Amino acid sequence: MAVLVTGGAGYIGSHTAVVLHEAGRDVVVLDDLSNSSPAAVDALRALTRPDLPFVEADAADVDAVGRAIADHGVDEVVHFAAFKSVSGSIADPDGYHRNNVGSTVGVVEAMRHNGVSRMVFSSSCTVYGEPTDLPVTEDSPISASNPYGATKVACEELLAAEAEAGGLDVLLLRYFNPVGAHASGDLGEDPRGTPDNLVPYLMQVAVGRRESLSVFGDDYDTPDGSAIRDYIHVVDLAEGHLAALDALAADRGSRGCTAVNLGTGTGYSVLDVLAAAGRVIGRPVPHQVVGRRDGDIQRIWADPSLAADLLGWRAGRGLDEMLADHWRWQQRHPDGYAAR
Ligand code: UD1
Repeated sequence: MAVLVTGGAGYIGSHTAVVLHEAGRDVVVLDDLSNSSPAAVDALRALTRPDLPFVEADAADVDAVGRAIADHGVDEVVHFAAFKSVSGSIADPDGYHRNNVGSTVGVVEAMRHNGVSRMVFSSSCTVYGEPTDLPVTEDSPISASNPYGATKVACEELLAAEAEAGGLDVLLLRYFNPVGAHASGDLGEDPRGTPDNLVPYLMQVAVGRRESLSVFGDDYDTPDGSAIRDYIHVVDLAEGHLAALDALAADRGSRGCTAVNLGTGTGYSVLDVLAAAGRVIGRPVPHQVVGRRDGDIQRIWADPSLAADLLGWRAGRGLDEMLADHWRWQQRHPDGYAAR
């Protein structure tokens, strides 16, 4: 039996594929490489096995996903394949819906045709919008604040309805802010073009690819005025997927559809991250404060207690380790996986 990882050449997908392989699962990666690189598949194979099955296909292609399931004896699915840029989604809302919701429809249909019922879905804390109460629990109000967030809400609703109709057991994992890289320094985040996210941008400044980090706002209602997020090591996140698959397989109270936060429970400000990065790198990272970024929320961090109760999972790696691992990846691969 095997686990299908859609979007397995992407940042979180590739780290999860390694963790699942190390736990003894047979992993099949499916990715259309629309926002990832064949070199990521090579890196993944170097860390797992040279013949790790890789299917180049769009997750919305029901026949291709169905064939991957049938050919490899897949009995569980982790569905990552999606676009994830907030600004990209504002520029192209219908493209984001077609890709993110379309791929989820495709994967669900292919699973149903092949009698596969267990799914772990890649969701996001973006579904909470700007929270009124902190930390956020899985019962906090849902409110998407951009088209990317709306696609995650739509996928969650679709999967809940499918589970209600029977035949699907799904854990919706709501990630907070993943950063870091595999400890080898050979698997990491490789955004195309200008990075949207804080740590990839900061690391490209530190390695000399960009001049200076813009800190988006220092007038928020936070202790130092910069915005607060719950940063989580990508390998902790990957281990959360393993715990979720194990919980589904053992049927530990996970029938139907359940949402689970994957965060650390600790919030850090942008200036906290900059200070920690300076310590880890050994010199300050050039930056300047600019105005707030449109659509940004000011403060969010998780209540991660359901993940501990239901999955027996807790994030173990701290901010310095996240940044040290990200820095190792950036130094070993200053231009990412390859010139693309
Ligand atoms: C956003 C999404 C999140 C998604 C993630 C992945 C929302 C509310 N959040 O996270 O769901 O999974 O993108 O793309 O939709 N910052 C700077 N300078 C920079 C970049 C960022 O100061 O150059 C600040 C931001 O203002 C923010 C923090 O760093 O306060 C983190 O930003 P970022 O890494 O982009 O993540 P989110 O916006 O939290």
